[in-house]
Amino acid sequence: MAERIAIYPGTFDPLTNGHVSIVRRSLDIFDKVIVAVAMHSGKNPLFSLEERVDMVREVFQKNTRVIAEEFSGLLVEYAHSRGVNTIIRGLRAVSDFEYEFQMALMNRKLAPNIHTVFMMTDYKWLYISSTIIKDVARLGGSIDGLVPEVVAGRIRERLFAA
Ligand code: COA
Repeated sequence: MAERIAIYPGTFDPLTNGHVSIVRRSLDIFDKVIVAVAMHSGKNPLFSLEERVDMVREVFQKNTRVIAEEFSGLLVEYAHSRGVNTIIRGLRAVSDFEYEFQMALMNRKLAPNIHTVFMMTDYKWLYISSTIIKDVARLGGSIDGLVPEVVAGRIRERLFAA
């Protein structure tokens, strides 16, 4: 049987435990997950594209079923180029729904053969986002347990290294 591969796209500035949980759960359904880090997503990232990809690689270095790479341009074009027809997105709350619905429908209009699969985010990560984690860290609050250790270290380095 052909390998079932899915793409999990996002900005990942940086990867949080919420993202990690979605990747791990996706691996129960798919043989491989490509974590696709977006070059341009209209945000002004704290970490460069290379740094964001690197952090994902480090976190999943022991798992050969997780691949991290960058992409630019249209997500559906990238999916075509990788020969993958499934996109995974995590849903945290009702507030995510409208944006996700809009993206999924636009992607379907652009490429009807590509499907978006939504996973409910674990309740433990409902309230976190990359932005809120960076804000809390910037203001001296603890982000322990909310991001992988590697990521926590990189955030501290970026925000507080002289
Ligand atoms: N746990 C914790 N946080 C989560 C989460 C989870 N399970 N799922 C999402 N988030 C957070 C992210 O940390 C992020 O927080 P931030 O806004 O503070 O940075 C936010 O939710 C949403 O980010 P993300 O999942 O990374 O998506 P995005 O909106 O940044 O990325 C792209 C969207 C890159 C997938 C989209 O812009 C895209 O496809 N771009 C390519 C161009 C294209 O094809 N455009 C047309 C698409 S219709």
